[in-house]
Amino acid sequence: MLESIALICSKLNSIAPNILNGLFLNTDLKNNLSLIKDKITNKDFNYVLENLQKNCLLMQFMKVCPIPDYYIEKNFVKIRKEILNQTYKLNIDKNHINFLISLSMQCFLNEYIYGQSKDEIEKIKKIDERIKNNLKENKEISDLDILCLLCYEPLTNFSWSNKVKFSDKLKEIFKLHLNQNEIEIQISKSIKSISKVEDRISIKVKKQYEENPYPRWENLGLSIEPREIKEVINDNDLNLDLKKITNSESPEILIAGCGTGQHAITTASKYQKSKILALDLSFKSLSYAKRKANELKINNIDFIQGDILDLESIDRKFDIIESVGVLHHMDNPFKGWKILTSCLNKDSLMLIGLYSEKARQHIKEIKNKINKIKLQSNYKNIIKFRKDLIENNDNHLNYIKSSPDFYTVSGVRDLLFHVQEHRFTISKIKEYLDKLGLIFLGFEDQLVKEKFKEIYSNKIDLYNLDKWEEYEKNNPRTFAGMYQFWCKKID
Ligand SMILES: C[S@@+](CC[C@H](N)C(=O)[O-])C[C@H]1O[C@@H](n2cnc3c(N)ncnc32)[C@H](O)[C@@H]1O
Repeated sequence: MLESIALICSKLNSIAPNILNGLFLNTDLKNNLSLIKDKITNKDFNYVLENLQKNCLLMQFMKVCPIPDYYIEKNFVKIRKEILNQTYKLNIDKNHINFLISLSMQCFLNEYIYGQSKDEIEKIKKIDERIKNNLKENKEISDLDILCLLCYEPLTNFSWSNKVKFSDKLKEIFKLHLNQNEIEIQISKSIKSISKVEDRISIKVKKQYEENPYPRWENLGLSIEPREIKEVINDNDLNLDLKKITNSESPEILIAGCGTGQHAITTASKYQKSKILALDLSFKSLSYAKRKANELKINNIDFIQGDILDLESIDRKFDIIESVGVLHHMDNPFKGWKILTSCLNKDSLMLIGLYSEKARQHIKEIKNKINKIKLQSNYKNIIKFRKDLIENNDNHLNYIKSSPDFYTVSGVRDLLFHVQEHRFTISKIKEYLDKLGLIFLGFEDQLVKEKFKEIYSNKIDLYNLDKWEEYEKNNPRTFAGMYQFWCKKID
């Protein structure tokens, strides 16, 4: 069932809240979780796990997407602790194995955002020792011991990871933890660079995404049938004479700052006979992206490492340039945008995504706190800071909790700990568009446009940035997901 949902939706992460609603409304998930207490009896614990295991949608969901819900997280943390206690004492029920598989995959996907208490660290050590000793003595290694540890740390952290023979039940876990890692290391060797990254901020940004490629994703719904540029663009309801845009049969498309490839792969599947160049600073992100493209059998993308600042050196022009969530991480976004503009062909289109100053006020305040205490962005600090936000019931918590980024380590780093972040206003965007000789063609997000039309019913207003500025003033959360808009060079 979940696979088919993923196929028809563009991103599983974006429909996760709907799946959660369905789980809470149509299954007994809430009743079961409400039985979880800090001190839970064996009987209740076994009862809850048996029931959760019967919830097939939940079990599958846990394997494919970080669950963006704090109530579930809180209870999973307690369940995981009890699993550890019982595994440590060798009295965990074997019948819970399917739940352990799902939970360990969920923890891998959220990059172990649940953290570890002192008591847990001790018990993990002891189970790790037990596995090592059993290996030494040629004794059988329990799947439950392995699974329990993998609810706390990735397999690659354990010295025995390459020595254990995995049972058939654990093959999917092995694939998730080890195969992907090895494949990406190999892929990384084949990725070419356009030049050495030299800009001071680009070096810092590159380091962040080498350590934490973002976003980590598993599933993507692709276009069933690629179409011509005009057909695809026509869906967006832009302020544009379609006769005047490129009619290239085999469009050249640049994805500038492709990250882990979601965007590049979606675009590659959308445009007929397209040739995509996907550029990013981070080898790790590019390797993730290329592995996913290979898995999905998308072969019209060239992945290349480099800085937008050095793009002119490749001396190529493009029919479409897309750069979403990237320019605001540069030292000088205008300079980056200017370089992208210089790579546009005549009659070409550009899709840009930028952070909104209004929508990110709460993030700005939290970032100020982090900067004030000079908190380094390592795993421990990220987990601790997040925990403090929750425990102190920070006044921005409700907004933050609704962001899927809050539920993975790389997401929190991107959301709150980024080394470089600019925010834009609509006036600033207008100023930059003018300076660059670009015209605004319209926003991308259909839902945002539908809401706007409820207030401004005149169609022409959709393309009037002054009206949008007015609208955002009254609805400051409108661009919580970024300003994403199309533009092109003035004829
Ligand atoms: C927040 S991620 C967004 C990734 C992707 N656009 C998406 O929407 O999924 C930002 C990406 O931009 C890349 N990036 C930032 N500055 C860049 C630059 N100057 N040149 C190339 N890539 C850059 C980063 O390495 C990172 O992978």
